[in-house]
Amino acid sequence: MYRSIASEIPRSPGFYLLPSASIWITLQHQRCVIRHISSAARKRRALPNAFPVLDLPLQAIHQHVYEANHRNSKTCHNRYVQLNKKVTKGGGDNAIARHTQRNRKLLVKDRLRLLLDDEDFLELSRFAGLGLPYGDIPSAGCLTGVGKINGLWCVFIANDATVKGGTAYPITVKKQLRAQEVAIQNRLPCVYLVDSGGAFLPLQSEIFPDKNQGGRTFYNEAIMSAMKIPQVSVVCGSCTAGGAYIPTMAEETVMVHRIGTMFLGGPPLVKAATGEEVTPEELGGARLHAEVSGCVDHFAWEEKEAFEYTRNIISTLNFTLPEDDDKEEERPLYSSDELLGLAPRSYNYSLDAKMVISRLTDGSRFQEFKARFGTTLITGFAKIHGHLIAIVANNGELSYQAALKGSHFVQLCDRRDIPLIFLQNTPPSAAVTLSVSQAEINSNRIKAQASMMSAVACASVPKITVVIGGCHGADSYVMCGRSFDPNFLFLWPNARVSMTAAGYAGSLLHPNSEHQQDEEDIAKKMQSKINLTLEEESSAFFSSGRLWDDGVILPQDTRRVLRDCLEIIKQKQYQLSKEKLQSGILRI
Ligand code: COA
Repeated sequence: MYRSIASEIPRSPGFYLLPSASIWITLQHQRCVIRHISSAARKRRALPNAFPVLDLPLQAIHQHVYEANHRNSKTCHNRYVQLNKKVTKGGGDNAIARHTQRNRKLLVKDRLRLLLDDEDFLELSRFAGLGLPYGDIPSAGCLTGVGKINGLWCVFIANDATVKGGTAYPITVKKQLRAQEVAIQNRLPCVYLVDSGGAFLPLQSEIFPDKNQGGRTFYNEAIMSAMKIPQVSVVCGSCTAGGAYIPTMAEETVMVHRIGTMFLGGPPLVKAATGEEVTPEELGGARLHAEVSGCVDHFAWEEKEAFEYTRNIISTLNFTLPEDDDKEEERPLYSSDELLGLAPRSYNYSLDAKMVISRLTDGSRFQEFKARFGTTLITGFAKIHGHLIAIVANNGELSYQAALKGSHFVQLCDRRDIPLIFLQNTPPSAAVTLSVSQAEINSNRIKAQASMMSAVACASVPKITVVIGGCHGADSYVMCGRSFDPNFLFLWPNARVSMTAAGYAGSLLHPNSEHQQDEEDIAKKMQSKINLTLEEESSAFFSSGRLWDDGVILPQDTRRVLRDCLEIIKQKQYQLSKEKLQSGILRI
């Protein structure tokens, strides 16, 4: 939990009662013991700061690189818009007509409009499901994100039944599990809008049996409930087979009359087995489940009413949110549009990372830490929309000194409870060892990087990673890549994600000098093939399609996305009761 109590610590030693903060503070030889008397009633005040301004306007010397980056950013932006259009269409015009006209259901975007306070929500992994070996699955068949319901940030997981009846592909399961993980890591209530034909049967072997597959969703619901992370669901469509367990395992469920159905096998199965003709309503409609089975708790005549119920359920959760703080925030000195020219088209087009920082932080202010040591890593403190944060940004190869500095800084922030923001732009490939002295440098670097990996992995503060350029090799782990469990990880559209960058595979596969000419030719062909593969597979959209991240964000939106993430992360301190229970709530 964050503590801004440092702001109330008086400077001279002594024994004080601070009436505004209701905190007794004992200071002995500069060491203080702090006891909270009433944290809910306490008003908090951040320490004033006058961090230095990073006065870094674009210079004529940057022009050439800036323009090349800008052109590349425009190309990436066009691709972003194109994919966005594709995803917006969901399963296509016919499926939309079937969904809205024949089945009389609301589209998922209209459902979210009724559920959430406004459209200002943080959508996660919008491009997940595009470009997969089994085809394009728009939004992976379900929309996930974090939005506000009655002022409270909640994770939502909403099936899009226009995409193959909302059935679960392997990527759908992965997306749902990631959304649950976001809810767990940030202690956010979770709302499920269920409208799904269950498993996509042709790919059942990739959905059903393994640990992080279908069943994990239900397991998570139970353990989340036990962790006091509320689980609410709305049955607003088909809920067949495994799908039936999502609402049944939720703590509280709403079901819509004549829209929602829930059964293990549908009417065709009953007919085939017994010859009996039953309607979906008789077999598993809202009336049956609200009045007879007890699988749901609220009966809604229509979808609009169901979302009103859901918003009211959220109001019963035990949170007290702080009053809105309408104090003025400092904007960066420079336009965020300039980030388009700073987003490197390749590693060689990277400009000073402080130029990026100065276009993200309040007032372009930055209190740098160890400015003269290990300068290929920039570390320091800043504010984003008033939230105190710590920035770790690549500014070249992560040298021995840079990694030592990184370890020190990460531990410092962990001790002070300050969220870490990693701006990742790693070199295209690992340094090659060509001499004994180089071997020594590289070995020392490995040791320092291993220490920093450990510091990052063990830091208990929230972490957010934004890949602003390259994400290659071990440097990407050190900079809190996906496997290091950041609370959120986003990519800029220009980002490149691969073990080594395209064009650099040559050094790893060079032919043996004793080889005959034809063998060298074969090796060269292999190199060019691998480089082509690396080029194709390293794009930000390829990565996001496979859910290796939480989505592609535009550089100019980064400040807003970081603000949302920081608010979301902070919310857990407003939940009144958090201790873990023995079991999830049972529907009995
Ligand atoms: N696996 C694979 N494809 C499925 C599917 C499943 N479980 N359920 C539906 N589909 C496909 C349909 O074949 C159809 O594909 P098409 O658009 O290429 O023709 C598409 O999804 C939409 O299904 P459709 O039945 O036309 O739409 P609908 O809105 O009338 O009904 C369902 C949707 C989900 C209610 C209905 O398809 C259904 O009951 N499916 C079977 C569910 C089931 O038994 N699941 C068990 C899984 S363990």
